[in-house]
Amino acid sequence: MRYLESANDLRADQLRSGFFEGWPNPPDPDTHLRLLRQSDRIALALDEQSDTVIGFATALTDGVLAAFVSFLEVLPAWRGRGVGTALIQRLVASIEPIYGIDVICDPELQPFYERAGPFRPGTAMIARSYAHQSGQAGAASGD
Ligand SMILES: CC(C)(COP(=O)(O)OP(=O)(O)OC[C@H]1O[C@@H](n2cnc3c(N)ncnc32)[C@H](O)[C@@H]1OP(=O)(O)O)[C@@H](O)C(=O)NCCC(=O)NCCS
Repeated sequence: MRYLESANDLRADQLRSGFFEGWPNPPDPDTHLRLLRQSDRIALALDEQSDTVIGFATALTDGVLAAFVSFLEVLPAWRGRGVGTALIQRLVASIEPIYGIDVICDPELQPFYERAGPFRPGTAMIARSYAHQSGQAGAASGD
């Protein structure tokens, strides 16, 4: 296992399907790679044996006061071994020091984030356009 903080040298074929679990209309590997490259901070977990990414975390930040953890996911076969904790800790370390780091999660994951980083429960408002879930141009037409 190797951790990376850049996707510059990553290829789309190193991003297996299996990420975006439960999404009806998930991004394809090329779009996933674009998402990683265009995020302000990332942490990747790479399985060296298969040369594939098995976990990723991304954040967006203004670099002044605010940061937002946009994604954290570990492939199901690799869960429960500390990879998710390592990814969020590496991501937070790459952002700090900063005033605020926000992450939106389901209530059952709040203990995970409290254990893994400087997080405490808060409240949030969200907007989602499911027609754009794949991240593909033209997806809004329902393609
Ligand atoms: C959340 C996630 C990244 C954790 O990755 P991981 O590599 O398994 O994390 P760790 O091994 O460091 O920690 C595992 C612990 O997190 C907690 N945890 C993980 N998922 C949980 C869930 N859905 N509900 C409650 N607790 C959960 C448990 O305490 C778990 O310990 P256990 O394996 O002994 O039950 C992974 O489960 C995942 O990718 N889930 C689907 C995507 C997701 O929910 N991402 C978070 C978006 S906010």
